Amino acid sequence: MRDGTLDLAWNTRAARIQKRIDTLASITDESGMITRTFLSPAMQKANQVVAEWMQEAGLAAAEDRVGNLVGQSKADPGSPAFLLGSHLDSVRNAGRFDGPLGVLLAIEAADTLRSNSVEMPFSLAVVGFSDEEGVRFQNAYIGSKAFCGLLTPNELAMPDQNGLTLRRVLEFRNGTDFVLSQPTLPPGRIVGYLEVHIEQGPVLENEGLPLGVVTAIAGQSRSRLTWTGKASHAGTTPALLRRDALSGAAAFIREVEVASEKFNGLMATVGQLHVEPNVTNVVPERVVHSLDVRHQEDSVRNEASAWLVQRAGELAAARRLAFAWETLQITQARNCDTNLSRRLLGAVETVTGSARRLPSGAGHDAAILALLFPTAMLFVRCRDGLSHHPDEFVSLEDIRAALQVTVELLSSWESI
Ligand code: HGY
Ligand code: MN
Ligand code: MN
Repeated sequence: MRDGTLDLAWNTRAARIQKRIDTLASITDESGMITRTFLSPAMQKANQVVAEWMQEAGLAAAEDRVGNLVGQSKADPGSPAFLLGSHLDSVRNAGRFDGPLGVLLAIEAADTLRSNSVEMPFSLAVVGFSDEEGVRFQNAYIGSKAFCGLLTPNELAMPDQNGLTLRRVLEFRNGTDFVLSQPTLPPGRIVGYLEVHIEQGPVLENEGLPLGVVTAIAGQSRSRLTWTGKASHAGTTPALLRRDALSGAAAFIREVEVASEKFNGLMATVGQLHVEPNVTNVVPERVVHSLDVRHQEDSVRNEASAWLVQRAGELAAARRLAFAWETLQITQARNCDTNLSRRLLGAVETVTGSARRLPSGAGHDAAILALLFPTAMLFVRCRDGLSHHPDEFVSLEDIRAALQVTVELLSSWESI
């Protein structure tokens, strides 16, 4: 679609996306920062606000049984639909663009196409997933997995920090048993899925590019490690007699850094740690911590994980600690769809003149949707590559470019 033929008011639309991102950023479970977790009061409020914006764009909005917000331009179960979106939940003390940019830009694209009466061979559906980050249940992608009918009994049995299982929370919310493998939309309807997302890395900025097309999404494993020693007096227990769980965990966490050096391209992180009894004058008895391991190639991630398991066992034995490693979730690396990505790349070239492809180190709902549908991702440059931080930033110009590309992709689609 060319600017000359339609009054597209790109700057006004980009400004409205930014304004809505700022409004959403004020809806949080923790004042003074952006935190929206699965089915929380802030997520419920966010869904109400975004549902209104969907309605204004001509999308009939409704929540599904796990709190995904879905807006459809035509709810006809038999008609083909192109799906766009991202997630509305956040990490703790998050940036404002990770997730919401993709949802609000999709709504603006739908409004642009509708108000310019653009004919397409499919209707549009926009989704705001209810849980991509996995903060509450330690399992990422609850929203998109449920949307695709892919939640497993194990995932439903996962407890949150209050001991409530996901199944219990959902059955309380819905007032009925949670039936597995019930996708939100009939899978046969969906022609493809596009997720617009901030890059959360430095590549586009370093190359002076506003946008890039994602080739593949890194695989990731999430684990919980428990080290158990013996509490004793901090002032009277000689080093040789100590069974210090925190020293053991600390020695292992250094090995996690070593693994990132040893296995090229590996990203391994301990982001969460809990100590017992967690008082200054007692040798720590028990430590529980997370481990997030990622790589573009599953074989390398598996090799690195095996090395880390071995190192953990050696360290535990040397320090006379008991040790347990629970793998909570594994998501395989996933390629984006070749044809849809080629179409998307063409739209990027038309709008920006560049044609950069790049892999994603971050996980995305697209990695789940790609199991069922042709899936593509459009990355938008973010300042310093920073994300999962309140200083996350995307420029209005880059939001505008991403919106134009999304409209170009959809408006130039002749037939399916
Ligand atoms: O952790 C991730 O990669 C994403 O932000 N959920
Ligand atoms: Mn994130
Ligand atoms: Mn995200």
